[in-house]
Amino acid sequence: MKIVGGKASQFLAGRVAQTLGCGLAIVEFKHFPDGELYTRLLEDIDEVTIVQSTVTDSDLICLLQLIDACEDADKVNVVVPYMGYARQDKVFIKGEAVSARAVARAIKADNIFTINIHSKNILSFFDGNAVDLDAMPLLGKYIGSIGLNNPVIIAPDEGAAHLAQRAASELGIDYDHLEKTRLSGDKVILKAKKLDVMARDVVIVDDMISTGGTMAETISLLREQGARNVYAACIHPVLSSNAVLKLYDAGTKDIIATDTIEKVVSKVTVAPIIAEAIKENL
Ligand code: R5P
Repeated sequence: MKIVGGKASQFLAGRVAQTLGCGLAIVEFKHFPDGELYTRLLEDIDEVTIVQSTVTDSDLICLLQLIDACEDADKVNVVVPYMGYARQDKVFIKGEAVSARAVARAIKADNIFTINIHSKNILSFFDGNAVDLDAMPLLGKYIGSIGLNNPVIIAPDEGAAHLAQRAASELGIDYDHLEKTRLSGDKVILKAKKLDVMARDVVIVDDMISTGGTMAETISLLREQGARNVYAACIHPVLSSNAVLKLYDAGTKDIIATDTIEKVVSKVTVAPIIAEAIKENL
């Protein structure tokens, strides 16, 4: 088994190969004058696991090129740690493309692994055996190592409450999610459902931070409610445009994320859960 690292996930591919103690295939990437990507696998392979997140359209092309370059392999596993277009997982307005389905159908492999994918129904769009891995315990473990004071984990909404629960149960600490309470026709307050955050260190967890809007609003709110230090944690640090500025402006102490997308804030590697999944499917 060799690990093939895509252009967007070279650190992670290296860490997976290191964890498994297996080889890493070298790939050449370059661009033609018109901007098109050229990808070439520089070794012969029989069984491979390709690791490539698809943050941009070009990342997706790179992944499809790698799968094609592995055409002669006996077995091809594909790990898409962060899968772009996953938020368009159904038809919201008549006539729309289900982008997640279009992307999933293009990714042909024996086994496909995603990490905390936006919605589990996307797994059924893949042709091969598709499994979603949970990186929240790894994030939880890291949160437990940074010396927080009377910590609580908060999800910005009910949809992310299961993530807060997964991280908190790793540490045996409190968790909660924010809830809107309507006080009158035009007055709504947003606060933690059960817990008081006053003077506590709070870690807000979500599956991804994209524009940073959700997280910035949550940080401001919890600080107004007396939280001590507020950390912004997520699995996928998309951090588009000025998201980082928004989070610091809102008063975050730090941003914590995994390397499903390789950024400065990727303090937690998901390599151990990928390595484990590959071992189980050898
Ligand atoms: C929503 O379904 C997700 O869990 C995130 O809360 C959302 O995608 C974050 O987006 P943004 O950073 O743009 O507010």
